[in-house]
Amino acid sequence: MRHMQAHLDRCYHFIFYFTTERHSGRDLIKYFKMALMNLPVVGPVLVSESLVAMATLCLVYLLLRLMRTKIPEGLQRLPGPKPIPIIGNVLEVGRNPHLSLTAMSVRYGPVFQIQIGMRPVVVLSGSNTVRQALIKQGEEFAGRPDLYSFHFINDGKSLAFSSDQAGVWRARRKLALCALRCFSTIEASSSEYSCVLEEHITKEAEYLVTQLSTAMEASGSFDPFRHIVVSVANVICGMCFGRRYSHDDEELLSLVNLSDEFGRVVGSGNPADFIPFLRFLPSCTMKKFMAINDRFNNFVQKIVTEHYSTYDKNNIRDITDSLIDHCEDRKLDENSNDQVSDEKIVGIVNDLFGAGFDTISTALSWSVVYLVAYPEVQEKLHQELRKNVGMDRSPRISDKPNLPFLEAFIMEIFRHSSFLPFTIPHCTTKDTSLNGFFIPKDTCVFVNQWQVNHDPTTWKEPSTFSPERFLDADGMGFNKLEAEKVLVFGLGKRRCIGETIGRTEFFLFLAILLQKMRFHKVPGHLLDMTPEYGLTMKHKRCQLRASLRKREQD
Ligand code: HEM
Repeated sequence: MRHMQAHLDRCYHFIFYFTTERHSGRDLIKYFKMALMNLPVVGPVLVSESLVAMATLCLVYLLLRLMRTKIPEGLQRLPGPKPIPIIGNVLEVGRNPHLSLTAMSVRYGPVFQIQIGMRPVVVLSGSNTVRQALIKQGEEFAGRPDLYSFHFINDGKSLAFSSDQAGVWRARRKLALCALRCFSTIEASSSEYSCVLEEHITKEAEYLVTQLSTAMEASGSFDPFRHIVVSVANVICGMCFGRRYSHDDEELLSLVNLSDEFGRVVGSGNPADFIPFLRFLPSCTMKKFMAINDRFNNFVQKIVTEHYSTYDKNNIRDITDSLIDHCEDRKLDENSNDQVSDEKIVGIVNDLFGAGFDTISTALSWSVVYLVAYPEVQEKLHQELRKNVGMDRSPRISDKPNLPFLEAFIMEIFRHSSFLPFTIPHCTTKDTSLNGFFIPKDTCVFVNQWQVNHDPTTWKEPSTFSPERFLDADGMGFNKLEAEKVLVFGLGKRRCIGETIGRTEFFLFLAILLQKMRFHKVPGHLLDMTPEYGLTMKHKRCQLRASLRKREQD
């Protein structure tokens, strides 16, 4: 048995070696001899069978070599670890791809190739390389790969995840950007607020403070993510659907709490996306993932149907109405280009809602955990608010320039947690090259944001949490140049369209929470800050405490 195993191992090695490396004729002879060494081991009766096996291997080898991508002159083949047949480098990538791929970038450089299953994936690291690919060669790296799991998101019609043709994606992205800009800047119902976005966020953040106080009175501690996610979801629900939900609404709660599971499957490196036969094996994770997407789609579809039945051209209430309006206008326009279906247009709201609550609630929940882990930073932030905003009114968006330490804290949360460790996977739209390496069309590309944010050539002591790194030399102002080095919203053509809303919401929620509350540990509870890998990395669910700040200094 052991002899047979060794024989098989050598055969594998033979195919594998010749399909992954450049070889001379001498290598070929050496390997052929090595494979022939097996013949006496398996016995004379099997010699003819072994010869047939060897001939088959040679044929497979020749076929694979013929199928190998030809590298254009002047360019090099991508470096990277050797893949194992069928599974590729899945074992080396492991459960924390942001860490393993960062380690590999030290060995292979800022552009290298791994293989997940049968599929080659190019991994980009290093700020210069990422900028070169996503900005200077933006068009060539703007595609999305056609991954199995992406087919279930928004019924395969997602703006962010589907591999739509460039024209369709561009038209939808433009519509989504317009709708977001328009509905976040319209006038608020009260002159107290600069715009409707500020009004939504302030009201939800103030309500969150009441909810946390109530939870403290009722049970003496609370799960921060459970409450934050509903408040954040309400802001985007207000803009997309013109409604908000109670913190005890079972339907919304069960939906928003599923985002962890969603992120785990969609995070870069999900084996079922890269090893085709895994799709046909029973998988609890994929079953759950499909169920989550069904629930999410049904939730949004119900609201969209209600909007269609109450739609009034003269009263556009929210983003859903404005997208329906766009479709209606198009029907009246004889010259309109109908390449994007109504379903795909109204379906944009599904992406905005999903991206709008998961990212910001993850960022805010991490912040509260960091505040508890670094109480001296929490105190310094509160004192800055007390001094520059006071305790008589809630902070506003316009207070931002007077709160440099809060801005620095936010940047350090983005950098240190890098809770979006990779962008959504990209894909090349044509044959291209980067740093002298050839990358064929339709190659899946992972952009390692975590590596850029922890690169020791950019950051001093990258693993230390220190908001001060984003302050000017005199410690008084926010250092914008330093902040621009942090990569969290992606770059270039696929850069996040919710960045302005995301930054505004994160800032205002945090400012209001910090002004009104002090967060603490539950005595005796350990704070585990190890992230759980996914598209957005979450902290482990935990119990925290909070107390209301007094108007006068304690
Ligand atoms: C702190 C908050 C947020 C962070 C850190 C964040 C980060 C990101 C990242 C890294 C990407 C992928 C970029 C790429 O693939 O290269 C992305 C894409 C996207 N984000 Fe955000 N995001 C945030 C908030 C939002 C919000 C509030 C919305 C909408 C209301 C939104 C909507 C989108 C959409 C639609 C895409 C897909 C764009 C495309 O594929 O063309 N995001 N975001």
